[in-house]
Amino acid sequence: MAEVRLFCIFLLLAVCTAVRYEPNWESLDARPLPSWYDQGKIGIFLHWGVFSVPSYGSEWFWWQWQGQKIPAVVDFMKQNYRADFTYADFAPMFKAEFYNPDQWADIFNASGAQYVVLTTKHHEGFCNWPTKYSWNWNAGDVGPKRDLVGDLANSIRKRTNIHFGVYHSMFEWFNPLFLQDQANNFTTQNFVRDKTMPELYELVNNYEPDLIWSDGDWMTSYDYWNATNFLAWLYNDSPVKDKIVVNDRWGKDARCKHGGFLDCDDSYNPGILQKRKWENCMHLDKYSWGYRRRMKYEDVLGMQPLLQEVMETISCGGNILINVGPTSYGEIPPIFEERLRQMGDWLKVNGEAIYGSKPWSHQNDTVTPGIWYTSKNGSTGPVVYASIPQWPENGEVFLGAPTPSSSTKVTLLGYPKTFDFNPGVSGGLTISIPPINVNDMPCQWIWVFKLEGIKN
Ligand SMILES: *[C@@H]1O[C@H](CO)[C@@H](O)[C@H](O)[C@H]1NC(C)=O
Ligand SMILES: *[C@@H]1O[C@H](CO)[C@@H](O)[C@H](O)[C@H]1NC(C)=O
Ligand SMILES: *[C@@H]1O[C@H](CO)[C@@H](O)[C@H](O)[C@H]1NC(C)=O
Ligand SMILES: *[C@@H]1O[C@H](CO)[C@@H](O)[C@H](O)[C@H]1NC(C)=O
Ligand SMILES: *[C@@H]1O[C@H](CO)[C@@H](O)[C@H](O)[C@H]1NC(C)=O
Repeated sequence: MAEVRLFCIFLLLAVCTAVRYEPNWESLDARPLPSWYDQGKIGIFLHWGVFSVPSYGSEWFWWQWQGQKIPAVVDFMKQNYRADFTYADFAPMFKAEFYNPDQWADIFNASGAQYVVLTTKHHEGFCNWPTKYSWNWNAGDVGPKRDLVGDLANSIRKRTNIHFGVYHSMFEWFNPLFLQDQANNFTTQNFVRDKTMPELYELVNNYEPDLIWSDGDWMTSYDYWNATNFLAWLYNDSPVKDKIVVNDRWGKDARCKHGGFLDCDDSYNPGILQKRKWENCMHLDKYSWGYRRRMKYEDVLGMQPLLQEVMETISCGGNILINVGPTSYGEIPPIFEERLRQMGDWLKVNGEAIYGSKPWSHQNDTVTPGIWYTSKNGSTGPVVYASIPQWPENGEVFLGAPTPSSSTKVTLLGYPKTFDFNPGVSGGLTISIPPINVNDMPCQWIWVFKLEGIKN
């Protein structure tokens, strides 16, 4: 009997270790998402490239100038650059001369974010690492003359526990190989064979990222991009097969359907619980992902709306990826740095309700607007966290969703005392908040109540 049992265990082990993903979505989608991603909740997105030099309009500058020919952008070039100036002439001006990836790593660490995603190549095609597959259009050969990707990966790994991810655009606006495949209605795959795939394999083998944030997929099918073959390699045989997390932008017929987690659209924030793991990728500058020299104070999302977006996203099962655009000379603009550091201060108090949390049975309150919930399994039973977006003037908050019991305990994260409450006549509870000295307030912007001993 014991032998039979042992044999069964061996068989199970053999079957388990032999799990190989097939290059089709049914198999790839069945892979469990490595848990660090859902637990981490908050990431930082960086859009950095040659577009950071003109830093005008957005990171779509080249396309707006010579693809769409938007009059304001065409005029900007006419008025400020010599007549024969080309987009490639911006590359030597991308010097990153003050780039100090240790400093960046410390800012990201102070923000409380658990992962960072850097644009390794945007739609302009310029590679921020010295690649073998893009002669003279990469940061090793021209401009910074250094490995922007590798240097950030090293600093982050050396100084923090943050996960390092790479953004990669599969298509390139003006690459002749891509344009030829497109002209052939994507019946040829020369661009994929000679550019997209070699780059992706090189990125994975050189930098062993924890996350690949694919983009630039939308013009055609995942079949053209050979995406399922790449992902099968990534999940079965790559050096990152156990930790790697990917998004869903692998072809117009994959987006919002297949892959690891779902990004769907930019700034996707459905406001209701989603069945699959998803991410809200959003930008602090309301008008651009890349740095914009004309960014105004009022264009930058404030702390209160930022944290409200964080709570709403996480309550509905999402992660939030918060974008900032570094300058071409390699600095994180101080207004972004301040937002990130303030978020970190807030998370020091309220991180308990964020990291490793799960959506609760209710995402927002049934009665009081703006209140979002998360939950955890505490040592003495389930715990529910309720975030409130304003400090109540009358010292009372009504929560309609939780059903209190005789053992319910209400506290405020970062504050040492237990609060009184009254059960509502038809469910819910009213929390009574005593006057709190301003010096004892645990945080600003949004406050989180911790509810223990709740029945639902
Ligand atoms: C990173 O953040 C953690 C948590 O806030 C902190 O303990 C640690 O000292 C930070 N490390 C650096 C290099 O700033
Ligand atoms: C691409 O498709 C269009 C529309 O179906 C067709 O007119 C064109 O001839 C095709 N081109 C090639 C190279 O197959
Ligand atoms: C697609 O991937 C498969 C498996 O790695 C490979 O044999 C094939 O050459 C790839 N095709 C292109 C166009 O990259
Ligand atoms: C809760 O969220 C849903 C979906 O976003 C919304 O329709 C509803 O009005 C919200 N409830 C309250 C009380 O604000
Ligand atoms: C609590 O633990 C149970 C059983 O392990 C699990 O089903 C549930 O999802 C957990 N809830 C949270 C909020 O982690």
